[in-house]
Amino acid sequence: MEYNFKGHWDNTYKNTPKEELGWFEDNPVPTTELIDKCHLSKDSLIFNAGAGCSILIQLLSEKGYRNILVNDISSTAIQNLKKQLSTTKNINFIVDDLTNPKELKNLKMIDLWHDRAVLHFFTDKNQQYNYFDLLKRKVKSRGYVIFSEFAVGGANKCCGLEVVNYNEEMFKEGLGDDFKLLESFNFEYKHPTNGNKRKYIYTLFRRN
Ligand SMILES: C[S@@+](CC[C@H](N)C(=O)[O-])C[C@H]1O[C@@H](n2cnc3c(N)ncnc32)[C@H](O)[C@@H]1O
Repeated sequence: MEYNFKGHWDNTYKNTPKEELGWFEDNPVPTTELIDKCHLSKDSLIFNAGAGCSILIQLLSEKGYRNILVNDISSTAIQNLKKQLSTTKNINFIVDDLTNPKELKNLKMIDLWHDRAVLHFFTDKNQQYNYFDLLKRKVKSRGYVIFSEFAVGGANKCCGLEVVNYNEEMFKEGLGDDFKLLESFNFEYKHPTNGNKRKYIYTLFRRN
């Protein structure tokens, strides 16, 4: 029987205060710096894949972005996020599975695809194929992609699930020749409760 990922994530968000989640950030500086480098217009469609209840959504809204799209497989995560936002104006929400998309297939073309700590959970080749297939169908020409995932030599597991460790080449393989790497750096994340350090790789790609 297939593992119930939706149930797994719903339970996580039901049972853990957001500040104790092993990916919690109160100020996602590396991400906001990369987004600033894209010089997007405020009308740009920003797609947040597997956004959970990240503070980034509030920050994007405060910066005046008017076309924010939030996705997660967990409806509990989305409910929690809605409660913490000061407004949901200009924000749309889609509960769907990035590796088996249904509603996500109807997305408009995206200016920025942002994924922090989501892709690395897709350990199965089919899941990875479906994820990148969706991304390549939906990111505009000249659109951007930001990935921040566990780096090679980083954690083997997160939230009780196996993860893949990424390097630049692996992202390039998934994206194909139509995307150019603009920037890449390593980042050490500190776990909010036990202080353990986790190695991430951040990348910014742009489509031809
Ligand atoms: C480690 S959390 C990261 C959350 C958020 N991106 C952040 O940085 O705070 C992984 C997120 O991916 C979501 N997720 C996992 N599998 C997914 C899938 N197949 N489709 C959509 N979201 C998924 C989880 O519910 C969870 O919110």
